[in-house]
Amino acid sequence: MKTAIYPGSFDPVTSGHIDIIERAVKLFDRVYVAAIGNPEKEPFFSLSERVEMLQLSLAKYKKVKVESFDGLLIDYARKKKAATIIRGLRAISDFDYEFQMALANRKLDSKIETIFLMTRGRYAYLSSSMVRQIASFGGDISGMVPKVIERRLSRE
Ligand code: PNS
Repeated sequence: MKTAIYPGSFDPVTSGHIDIIERAVKLFDRVYVAAIGNPEKEPFFSLSERVEMLQLSLAKYKKVKVESFDGLLIDYARKKKAATIIRGLRAISDFDYEFQMALANRKLDSKIETIFLMTRGRYAYLSSSMVRQIASFGGDISGMVPKVIERRLSRE
């Protein structure tokens, strides 16, 4: 059973995240999409809201399990017996941060590999913070988030 973890803040989940997950389910038998409970920056949405939005968006993917984790990602990956961490790459600007994180995680456990999947070009500009900002001013976020999230955010 090939198991991978796709960790993140998911504040909120975007179409770019879904695109990465669709790629991951083609490669793995089980993908844990794991929202971090204690991110470095205070999240806009609570952990339970972020998890709920993920669950709503990912209900149709049978290989995906939405969870949350606290503490070190490597400890969570070990607990789940996952040999792979998945991260999405949009543009070269993501690289420094991702490279640093992958090497830190490798130092903590050399048996767990990080692999990078590239989003579709059309999502290269997209981020959760951009979605939050546009939604907060009543702008059009269609196509930037799954339909269920779009309806939910436009109600708020
Ligand atoms: O969506 P994000 O905010 O880019 O996700 C970052 C995340 C959650 C993957 C990262 O902050 C993380 O793994 N945090 C857990 C703490 C940890 O393991 N730190 C050591 C490796 S850098």
